[in-house]
Amino acid sequence: MKKTIVVGVSSSIAAYKSADLVSKLLKKGYDVEVIMTKNATEFITPLTFSSLTKHKTCVDTFDRNVQYDVEHISLAKKADLFIIAPATANIIAKVANGIADDMLSTTFLASKCPKIIAPAMNTAMYENPITEDNLKKLRNYGVAIVEPDNGLLACGDTGKGRLADIETLLDAIDEHIHIDKPLKGKKVIVSAGPTIEKIDPVRYITNHSTGKMGYAIAEAARNMGADVTLVSGKTNLRVPSNITFIQIESAKEMFEAIKNIYDEADYVIKSAAVADFRPKVEALNKIKKEDSNGVIELERTDDILAYLGSHKTHQKLCGFAMETENVLNNAKEKLLKKNCDMLVLNNLRTEGAGFGVDTNVVTVLTKENTEELECMPKKDLAYIILEKLMEV
Ligand code: CTP
Repeated sequence: MKKTIVVGVSSSIAAYKSADLVSKLLKKGYDVEVIMTKNATEFITPLTFSSLTKHKTCVDTFDRNVQYDVEHISLAKKADLFIIAPATANIIAKVANGIADDMLSTTFLASKCPKIIAPAMNTAMYENPITEDNLKKLRNYGVAIVEPDNGLLACGDTGKGRLADIETLLDAIDEHIHIDKPLKGKKVIVSAGPTIEKIDPVRYITNHSTGKMGYAIAEAARNMGADVTLVSGKTNLRVPSNITFIQIESAKEMFEAIKNIYDEADYVIKSAAVADFRPKVEALNKIKKEDSNGVIELERTDDILAYLGSHKTHQKLCGFAMETENVLNNAKEKLLKKNCDMLVLNNLRTEGAGFGVDTNVVTVLTKENTEELECMPKKDLAYIILEKLMEV
């Protein structure tokens, strides 16, 4: 069944951005209901939201022309998650103090689902100790606060107070709608993306990895409650919010970054496409063709996964493999040789699998089992990989 998100819109200039939020939530397959404060309707009309959601947009408690008997209670019960975005200082003050004098504040108080507040206001109002206290109070009540961004505000000031970007809000919704938190209290390291091995200041050796699988795993682990560190090579992907992000370039940098935090980790998922070789010498200046014999001497990089496997104490370790021949045997051998608990074998030559695409086709190997999975979105596969790793 579709999950329902209730989006509360209060009277900030950022109210128009809520239409984009609602539209993206609908595209993600959620059912969305919108409640506006009366003043918010000065910035954007209820019709905008009704046209998107195909539901009546609720504005105040005295509107009887609606399909629910006691609307605020019905919506409160229906909601799987409640987000107020943008949230003004006024609505924050009201809900922090249990004031319920309009449709939005009433429904917020009546709902028991996970709640998120995304403030948007002038910097001075945001930094006023009264607002700070109200936000602290809400945090203590278990409401998640998505902090506003720094930037130019509608009033002409520059500072903190811009509504967080929509992708960050979507991230927060994905995170908090996951009521099950089986990885709560666990530390998860995910490596993702390609490495870059420099030949000279201009050229390098790399591979086709886009990082999509690894980033999906990092987000899924965060949504499952884990404390996530993502160690990533260069990608074009947005850094997921609410995780620790370590940007690296080379295999050596990735090795150092992971080694430093390995002791504390509970789960390590090595989805990065690490170069096996790097140039023996990185030229300080651009290599001129006249000076080159066309041969670049290479040396082995450290095998990070093998190191982690041989230094394992309590960690559960998941490696990835990309094979093109003798696929299953090579993967099994790799699982044992690198002392992994699980290995995800990418079926590179299958339709819907591999680099750059949003789906993947994999076989999951453990010491006891081999399981072929059907083609599915990387975002769904990410949860399955984590669930399976928790079970081995
Ligand atoms: N890996 C690693 N360090 C390396 C190379 C690979 O940690 N220097 C990890 C990858 O992150 C992946 C796994 O090892 O999880 C498998 O990588 P793959 O390139 O498929 O295999 P290799 O071990 O490099 O072996 P081969 O060249 O024989 O395929």
